[in-house]
Amino acid sequence: NEGSLWGGRFASGPSPELQALSRSTHFDWQLTPYDLAGSRAHANALHRAGLLTDADHAELLRGLAALGERYASGDLRPADTDEDVHGALERLLLEEVGPEVGGRLRAGRSRNDQVATLFRAYLRDHARTISGLVLDLVEALAGQAAEHLDVVMPGRTHLQHAQPVLLSHHLLAHAWPLVRDVERLRDWDARVAGDSPYGSGALAGQTLGLDPEAVAAELGFTGSSANSIDGTASRDFAAEFAFVTAQIGVDLSRLAEEVILWTTREFDFATLHDSWSTGSSIMPQKKNPDIAELARGKSGRLIGNLSGLLATLKGLPLAYNRDLQEDKEPVFDSVQTLEVLLPAVTGMVATLTFNGPRMAELAPQGFSLATDVAEWLVREGVPFRDAHELAGACVRLCEELGCDLPDLTDEQLATISPALTPEVRSVLTVEGSVSSRSGRGGTAPVRVREQLDELRAASAGH
Ligand code: ARG
Repeated sequence: NEGSLWGGRFASGPSPELQALSRSTHFDWQLTPYDLAGSRAHANALHRAGLLTDADHAELLRGLAALGERYASGDLRPADTDEDVHGALERLLLEEVGPEVGGRLRAGRSRNDQVATLFRAYLRDHARTISGLVLDLVEALAGQAAEHLDVVMPGRTHLQHAQPVLLSHHLLAHAWPLVRDVERLRDWDARVAGDSPYGSGALAGQTLGLDPEAVAAELGFTGSSANSIDGTASRDFAAEFAFVTAQIGVDLSRLAEEVILWTTREFDFATLHDSWSTGSSIMPQKKNPDIAELARGKSGRLIGNLSGLLATLKGLPLAYNRDLQEDKEPVFDSVQTLEVLLPAVTGMVATLTFNGPRMAELAPQGFSLATDVAEWLVREGVPFRDAHELAGACVRLCEELGCDLPDLTDEQLATISPALTPEVRSVLTVEGSVSSRSGRGGTAPVRVREQLDELRAASAGH
């Protein structure tokens, strides 16, 4: 079997059906630069251990560099008969440097420790890319928040009007989870960095006196796996990465859902920029929030990639099993999905225009100042249970009269309770309500301005 990594003990080559099932080059070929870097570090380790002459070492490095250049220029391709990226690159290296020198490189390593290392290295690079894209979105939200510090809106719980808030406060509430996602990626990276599996061999380690710590350092890791079985068989690093990407998907989806609601005729809170929305093939008037809908939809796919991977891992005995080849496609898909989705969501958010007057008009509706009445009464010495009842009675009277809380006359307020003096009107405005929520984390403009600085400092730290 030409170009195969095994065959000595087989009387016949693999059937075409087996080859078709087994082949992974259509998705793992993108690991080529990582595989070549691993091979370079491994060649150096063999050389240091006295297992490669200076000449063979130099020739292997030359061959690996040549393959790297051909890959970069797009003219390195796996053959149909290649099982995976590792086998393909060994075949191509043999073509480049000849079987005598090329055949020395595989000593002391297995595809099992190789792939476990490369996959980590690939994900570490993409974790940095994704973090940068998430931080771009954080900045788009922060930019919109900074521009709309004077806009009030109805804050909701259960999707019902609850209490007025600043639009900026609401937008920043979407930014903080994204900052935490970036922190999650950083924490994940620190854990993965200390765990380079090169040197684990197939499962039990290697006999050749190679230095896994040196290979790890050369590949940008801070340490090598403490246990060779764990190094080759664990994929919790992939599952954890898939979780963070799924969480980012969920965070994007919650933001997207609000953009979808806000741009409806009924809400009319926001308008999408023409370049960041789509039309209809039949209805000429349509302007659709497709980016937001794709964000919402793709979050399902990101969650699916995580659950699929966990289902693959569940119940696998130690150490390596071929099932583990199924670890890559879902996680690659999550990476590619986010790297396309995030810039689109960022552009959509950055170009959104808000209908401030509409939000301000709705902010006090639905009796959203009732809590302010109750808390005003508390400050006047009324126990909160009673204050809650009295503010509720005000709402009931308004509902009977078909008016809003500020429309109640001094007499009507006094009939509900003598404690409800005309001074209560000081909290019956949206501005009064919002600025009175001035404790840390509250929606008062002074606090939101501080919060914006805090957010920007947190995201600049990454
Ligand atoms: N392509 C495989 C994977 O992605 C690595 C090869 C290990 N195969 C083996 N038969 N030990 O997991």
